[in-house]
Amino acid sequence: MSIPAARPLRALLLLAAVAAAAAAAPGPSAACARPLTIAAFKEFTAFILEGAEAAGVPMGEVTWVKNADEAHQYLESGERDVVFMSYDDTLSITLGDGFNGTAIVYPVHGGMLSLCGSVDPAANKTTVGIDTTTGYARALRYYLSTSLSPEQYEALNWVKAGATNIRFQALLDGSLDATLLNPPFTILAEAQGLTCTPMADVLGPYQGVVAHVTRDFLADPANVACLQTLADASTAVVAGLRNDPTAGVAALTTFYNTTTETATAIYEALWQPNGLATGLCFNTSQLAGTEAIYAWDTKQEVPADRTWVQDIFC
Ligand SMILES: *[C@@H]1O[C@H](CO)[C@@H](O)[C@H](O)[C@H]1NC(C)=O
Ligand SMILES: *[C@@H]1O[C@H](CO)[C@@H](O)[C@H](O)[C@H]1NC(C)=O
Ligand SMILES: *[C@@H]1O[C@H](CO)[C@@H](O)[C@H](O)[C@H]1NC(C)=O
Ligand SMILES: *[C@@H]1O[C@H](CO)[C@@H](O)[C@H](O)[C@H]1NC(C)=O
Repeated sequence: MSIPAARPLRALLLLAAVAAAAAAAPGPSAACARPLTIAAFKEFTAFILEGAEAAGVPMGEVTWVKNADEAHQYLESGERDVVFMSYDDTLSITLGDGFNGTAIVYPVHGGMLSLCGSVDPAANKTTVGIDTTTGYARALRYYLSTSLSPEQYEALNWVKAGATNIRFQALLDGSLDATLLNPPFTILAEAQGLTCTPMADVLGPYQGVVAHVTRDFLADPANVACLQTLADASTAVVAGLRNDPTAGVAALTTFYNTTTETATAIYEALWQPNGLATGLCFNTSQLAGTEAIYAWDTKQEVPADRTWVQDIFC
């Protein structure tokens, strides 16, 4: 089972309807003259972006990244206008790499993370798939180091296995024993008989994917107008899903080419703690949660002033 590469017209129409259902949200503004270039992970962010595009946001080709290194590069080089990646990646490029141009403008979701597959502490060398050492991998190290003994933790075999959609396939193929996934992949994995354990109880409030631009990008008001169009339409897609479960499940059924039962389970998973952001303001306890895990893993202090947070639409 994989996410269909083609985007059937019916799915786009349903997505547009979901976005339009959020009557309170303004329509795409005519102020955006230049399509935004975007890089993102092909996880639930893809649904939101395609919904925003279907609702009329001018958008160039979206680049689905293979791993976080590629996402970091697109932001630091300015090769893409907007890069969607996790808040840990924000900290990793800003505090770890020393890139001072980072600006995060709105939240997308809190990770919605579950550990899928099986970690067998008795068997040495459980193969655990991660993307790179940054991002969600830090949350997984924290989770496993608190739930296994030091010896069991030492015996894990970590492999860099690419972005979420790629790790999902590797888990199904059996080349990974366990990996961290989020919806729709958690639900699609469970539909294949795999077990997924939510990590929210151990992680606490956690900030996952956020929208990144650079300070240089924000300096141009024309760019900000386009970004606002994207932010508003994305909020409308989420509001449309939340306000109309029937239309939301129908859109998910078509988008993921799956059964109503599976789409309903995906739908329900979106509103868990650390689920989809429903507005354009950051939640400081979620930011603080990700920062605490970053600091635990890197032994590097996170400055309290968060100069990279530019929540201009909040
Ligand atoms: C949708 O799923 C059905 C049943 O699994 C399959 O036959 C069909 O090829 C899929 N369509 C697309 C566009 O992936
Ligand atoms: C990074 O940018 C912030 C905000 O413009 C500034 O206050 C700070 O001094 C900069 N840091 C470095 C190392 O350039
Ligand atoms: C796992 O590896 C450790 C260290 O090499 C060894 O002492 C232990 O017996 C191994 N356990 C199993 C179940 O193979
Ligand atoms: C922020 O997140 C925490 C933890 O998930 C939640 O309890 C709180 O209500 C959220 N705050 C706002 C303003 O949404």
